[in-house]
Amino acid sequence: MPAIEHLRPRPSGHRSGRDRAPGFLGRMRQRRAQRDYEASVLTFAYTLKGEFRDACEYLRVCHYVSVAAGITVRTPRVGEVRVGPPISFTVELMPGQEPEDFRKPGRRMAHTLGAHGLRIEPLAGRWVRLVLLEADPLAEHFGLPPVTAGSGTETVLLGRTEDRTTLGHAIADPAHLAVQGMNGSGKSAFVYGLLAQLCAAPDVLVAGSDITGLLLGRVWDDTAHREWQVVGTHDLEAHAALLEQLVAEMDRRLATIPRREDKITPTVTVPTVLVVLEEFPGLLRAAGAVPKPKSGKSLAERIVSAQLRLLSEGRKAAFRVLTLAQRFEATAVGGGYARDQFALRLSFRVPADSLAMLHGDDARPFGQEHANADPGIAYLSGLGRDCERIRVPHLGDYGEYVDRIQSYGRRAES
Ligand SMILES: Nc1ncnc2c1ncn2[C@@H]1O[C@H](COP(=O)(O)OP(=O)(O)O)[C@@H](O)[C@H]1O
Ligand SMILES: [Mg+2]
Repeated sequence: MPAIEHLRPRPSGHRSGRDRAPGFLGRMRQRRAQRDYEASVLTFAYTLKGEFRDACEYLRVCHYVSVAAGITVRTPRVGEVRVGPPISFTVELMPGQEPEDFRKPGRRMAHTLGAHGLRIEPLAGRWVRLVLLEADPLAEHFGLPPVTAGSGTETVLLGRTEDRTTLGHAIADPAHLAVQGMNGSGKSAFVYGLLAQLCAAPDVLVAGSDITGLLLGRVWDDTAHREWQVVGTHDLEAHAALLEQLVAEMDRRLATIPRREDKITPTVTVPTVLVVLEEFPGLLRAAGAVPKPKSGKSLAERIVSAQLRLLSEGRKAAFRVLTLAQRFEATAVGGGYARDQFALRLSFRVPADSLAMLHGDDARPFGQEHANADPGIAYLSGLGRDCERIRVPHLGDYGEYVDRIQSYGRRAES
């Protein structure tokens, strides 16, 4: 039972007649109701402060101070309590504390107080307001508006945070993207949305490998992107050949970087190449089953080394790699070094250890709950943002994806 329910003060419902001035008894009743209400607010604030203090102590958002009698615990001081809704209270930061320090323990703190989540609003000076969210702000559906970027430098929609900030990203910014999530967690649907936003940009090329053949391939028929995509498992050599062709293009670009510049500026003739690698560990597994040739590298080795070169040198040459995997284990994605190259990381529903594997130990406290997340709910980290829970926009059903790519996908010049 949510603890906060019985803490909420109940304003008295008493009202005198609309037109009649209250008589003596009426005025007494009003005054009494007012007093009762004020007393209940004070009790409520007192109880809330106590529970907040306990939560801070348990979650170690506190200072331990040595005194003669032993150790005492200091927790952040609570100022004004608003009964809401939503319930909120101001807190004075302790020395060395930052508003961000409430983010990680925020959810547990909110649960202790009977709420779903905590929003942190920095105020003037050393004060923050903590707002108790009664419901999951990400439960609401987030449809992808029918927008397409006119250039790779334009921002595309990535998702919406719990405090309703919309996050965007320009594909021309030098970052590779890692997307992990269990089967059915919404990885592919997220990338449908991303590619639908990018498919029309004249300075973006959507290339890549997709053994499922749903994300790339047939959907892209008649667009300029299609010839740079390889799908299915019938010809695994074609996947390695495509990646090697992309590496060759990257090398060609690297050799032509103007002398006074350190990177390629994407244009219509030299577009940003987004290399999508759908179910990459699956591709490696399938390639691993192909017998090794008598001389030279195996198919899997060729794929891994091409991916590694695109990851480590591609940024300067306007190549962006977008790798999808159920788990970003080092062995499944071509090694720890390869994994370290992804600046933007998203995790849809994954087991707790996978979350920490991609986002670091900071994400560990979120692991247990995120292991049951709904499709479309992800943790995002990188590009200057701490690990944050978001809902990604949903394009709709698969038919909608097909329609958008077919309607807006950039056509090959005839
Ligand atoms: N952002 C979202 N919002 C709501 N439902 C979603 C969202 N993303 C995916 N889904 C639902 O989850 C199902 C599985 O998504 P999918 O992208 O195929 O998962 P994955 O690629 O991770 O296996 C989709 O068919 C869709 O019904
Ligand atoms: Mg998928």
